[in-house]
Amino acid sequence: MSKVKRVDSERANSHGKHQPGLTVWFTGLSGSGKTTICRYLQVELAARDIEVEVLDGDVVRTHLCKDLGFSEADRKENIRRIAQVAQMLTYHGKIVLVAAISPYRSSREQARSNIGNFIEVYVNAPLSVCEQRDPKGLYHKARAGMIHGFTGIDDPYEAPLSPDVECLTGIESPKESVTKVMEAVLQFLPH
Ligand code: ADX
Repeated sequence: MSKVKRVDSERANSHGKHQPGLTVWFTGLSGSGKTTICRYLQVELAARDIEVEVLDGDVVRTHLCKDLGFSEADRKENIRRIAQVAQMLTYHGKIVLVAAISPYRSSREQARSNIGNFIEVYVNAPLSVCEQRDPKGLYHKARAGMIHGFTGIDDPYEAPLSPDVECLTGIESPKESVTKVMEAVLQFLPH
């Protein structure tokens, strides 16, 4: 937890309540459970009257990053844009949940240093588990050679070396994972 430091003063959110901004950055393989944990966390925070903005790679790629593919340069540009939006929102006091593979350590570290209030969550499920889940059938296509440069198959994923939170989604329930993330998030919120 040593890297998790509140570096911003408290700001007003859209309801006039005061809360510090924060980005919770979920990184992990496709199918590891980033979006699922994000959704659960969003619900838990809403129950505490805390609104969030969600930037999900799959969604962002349909508008802001529609022009980008999956080369190293394009993935880095994708993450740079997401981080830029997250930085602006965080600066203005929002709680931002980012769910993106974000396979490159350097991109995530850049995001952390630009954003400041930043929690890196490593959504860690073994490749075999992600492949078994294969919710979009993309691992199957990658193994069949129909897709090239798929993360974890024939494209790199640089796992975090010291994430603030690690969710072992192959063995823990979404509820257990969310509880871990929630603990870290609550450190940032006014008591
Ligand atoms: S990132 O690498 O640039 O961070 P991002 O999270 O935005 O990726 O998008 C990943 C999603 O795009 C995957 O969950 C999957 O649905 C889809 N996708 C399509 N092609 C690929 C690929 N070659 N590698 C990884 N994901 C892919």
